[in-house]
Amino acid sequence: MSTSGGDLRKGHPETPLRCAIFISGTGSGMSALLQYQRQRKACNHRTVLVISNNPDARGIKIARELGIPAEVVELPPVEDKQERRLKHEVEINFLLEKFDVELIILSGYMRLLSANFVDKWHMKVVNIHPSLLPDFPGAHAHRDALAAGVKTSGCTVHFVDSGMDTGPIIAQRKVPVFPDDTIETLSNRIKIEEHRLYPIVIDELAG
Ligand code: GRF
Repeated sequence: MSTSGGDLRKGHPETPLRCAIFISGTGSGMSALLQYQRQRKACNHRTVLVISNNPDARGIKIARELGIPAEVVELPPVEDKQERRLKHEVEINFLLEKFDVELIILSGYMRLLSANFVDKWHMKVVNIHPSLLPDFPGAHAHRDALAAGVKTSGCTVHFVDSGMDTGPIIAQRKVPVFPDDTIETLSNRIKIEEHRLYPIVIDELAG
C-alpha cells in the first residue's frame, strides 16, 4: 500500500481526521465505512459530512438516519458546462470548509472533479474503482472486464486527479471472474472486497 505524498494531518481517536464522503447512489460503500468507523475502537477518522449530487441517492437517507449531516448539492441550472461544473464545486467547497473537512472520500460519486478542485485538495481526495486499474477505467468497468474475458478483476483505491480514474494507486484487491458471471454477480463479488479494503486504506491515511 502506498499512502505517502500528501500533507494530511494524522488523526487520533480524540481528534479524528475529518472526512467527507461523496456519493451518487446506493451508498453501500459509504455504509460499510460508517459502520467501520462506529465499531472500531480508537478510530483515527470520522465522517462529518456526506454529499450527494443526486437528490434520490439512497445513501443520503442512510447517512441522516445515522445522524451524519448529509447534503444534496445538485448541478446549478447553468447552460455552459464549464461554468456549471465550477459553480457546483464552489458550493461543495463552501460545505467542505463549513464542516472543516480534511479528507474527501469518493464512494460511487459519478462526477469528474475539475483540475481546479483537485489542485486545491491535492492528495486529499481518494476514490475506489471496481477494476484493477489501469484496466477498465470509467463508468462501465464490470461490463468492460466481462467483454475483455479477463479471469481476474478487483478493485483499486487511488488518489484522485482530474483524469478518469488515473490518479496514483494506493491499494488493490483481486477477485476471480467466472465464465457465467454477469455484471451483477461480478459487481457484488467486487463490492465485498471494496467494503473491506476502503476502511483499511483510510486507516493508513489517517493513522
Ligand atoms: C462501487 O462499486 C465503487 O467502486 C464505484 O461505484 C460503486 C458504488 O456503489 N465507484 P455503492 O453506491 O457504494 O453501493
